[in-house]
Amino acid sequence: MRIFVVTFLFFSAVSAKHEQYAGWKSYYVGPSTTAELKLVGVLKAQYDLDFISNPAVGREGVVVLSPDLQEPVTKALNDAGISHRVHVEDLKTAFDVDDENIERQARVTLARNGGKRMPYDNYQEIEVIDNYLEEIAEKYPETVTLVNPANSYEGRPIQYLKISTTNFEDESKPVIFIDGGIHSREWISPPTVTWAIHKLVENVTEPDLLEKFDFILLPVVNPDGYKFSFTTTRLWRKTRSTDQSQISPMCPGVDGNRNFDFFWNTVGTSSIACADNYGGSRAFSEIETRVVRDILHEHLERTALYLTMHSFGSMILYAWGHNGTLSNNALNLHMVGVGMAEAIDELSLPHFPRYRVGNSFLVLNYGASGASEDYAHAIGIPLAYTYELPGLSIGLQGFILDPRYIEQVCKETWEGLVAGIRMAGELYDGVIDP
Ligand SMILES: *[C@@H]1O[C@H](CO)[C@@H](O)[C@H](O)[C@H]1NC(C)=O
Ligand SMILES: *[C@@H]1O[C@H](CO)[C@@H](O)[C@H](O)[C@H]1NC(C)=O
Ligand SMILES: [Zn+2]
Repeated sequence: MRIFVVTFLFFSAVSAKHEQYAGWKSYYVGPSTTAELKLVGVLKAQYDLDFISNPAVGREGVVVLSPDLQEPVTKALNDAGISHRVHVEDLKTAFDVDDENIERQARVTLARNGGKRMPYDNYQEIEVIDNYLEEIAEKYPETVTLVNPANSYEGRPIQYLKISTTNFEDESKPVIFIDGGIHSREWISPPTVTWAIHKLVENVTEPDLLEKFDFILLPVVNPDGYKFSFTTTRLWRKTRSTDQSQISPMCPGVDGNRNFDFFWNTVGTSSIACADNYGGSRAFSEIETRVVRDILHEHLERTALYLTMHSFGSMILYAWGHNGTLSNNALNLHMVGVGMAEAIDELSLPHFPRYRVGNSFLVLNYGASGASEDYAHAIGIPLAYTYELPGLSIGLQGFILDPRYIEQVCKETWEGLVAGIRMAGELYDGVIDP
């Protein structure tokens, strides 16, 4: 024990990396009624609170609080009788420990296979993902094409793979589009997309998928923010652009999932550049969101399913997210959403939360405009979902999600994708006729 403490102090003393989070804490917030959830929403707006996991009724969320917010916010929660408890006592220390775990894990991976294989026992840095996409395209030229339609604001490639047995030339095939990493700090998102690539070309256990569908897989929409969250600010969520307004050089970045042209800049978003949910100077101000937009439009008539991977919350959410009204396709959206959730829950671990499925506004009591999934649905993609991947429940140690659970999350999510893709195909063919 003593040795542990000494090493630990030594480590803390030499690591200045997460200094900006000194004194920060995170709290579970567990509203038990809709009224309490609504109150949480009021506090969220009042204090501009950063929930890294949004609460639902009977489902705790997690909010991070800078030192100056801890007293007023916990007092407000107490006064309202909303259950809350400390999640992490000291964010800086928790991030240092996470870094240590990640570094230790990186050494293990390196020793095991010379660092050549894509890691699923550790988080995937942007360079590792880019290498992987390039390697896969080289190794499987018959089915895989690497596309780099544009570079990010800071000049990193925004790369995706097209996977198809017919080079996208058979126009009768439905297209499946999956993206990840638009919110950079959500590190579990990109691995679920690279895992889907792995399962489509390297370890094919569902050969029907590639027979029947064309795939577009974009693991990291926002490579600048992703890089920045590894090197500098762990909880960075936005892009890194500095050209939005006069203050944007001091407060860089736009929330990519508020930047789509769908009721842009109306709810659950901010027009203040420094805010974490800043929607940008205009819809599609960001090259990163324009890349997603252009993919959505390129194969619009035959895109059957669009999924965007986020974390955390163990939820599958659908339109309309800005106002809580159900779309004309709500029955199918719900049916396929439940199908995906059931497939995931079947393979999930007992201490992971069960998935919740529903309209994002109704589940979270929180509206947001300018989201990619709503935009995709509005332009005509019949099935569009936001995944909130698992994390943060008791037993999932580490601030975010212990690296030892990455592979589990990838595997169970894949089961959900397979179920969703097959159902989307049946709907596309008109086999399911509700
Ligand atoms: C896929 O991976 C599993 C688990 O590692 C392995 O048992 C199986 O043989 C692999 N299948 C193919 C077709 O590569
Ligand atoms: C919510 O937005 C959708 C999509 O634009 C629209 O069809 C619906 O009428 C809106 N609901 C309300 C109550 O305004
Ligand atoms: Zn997100």
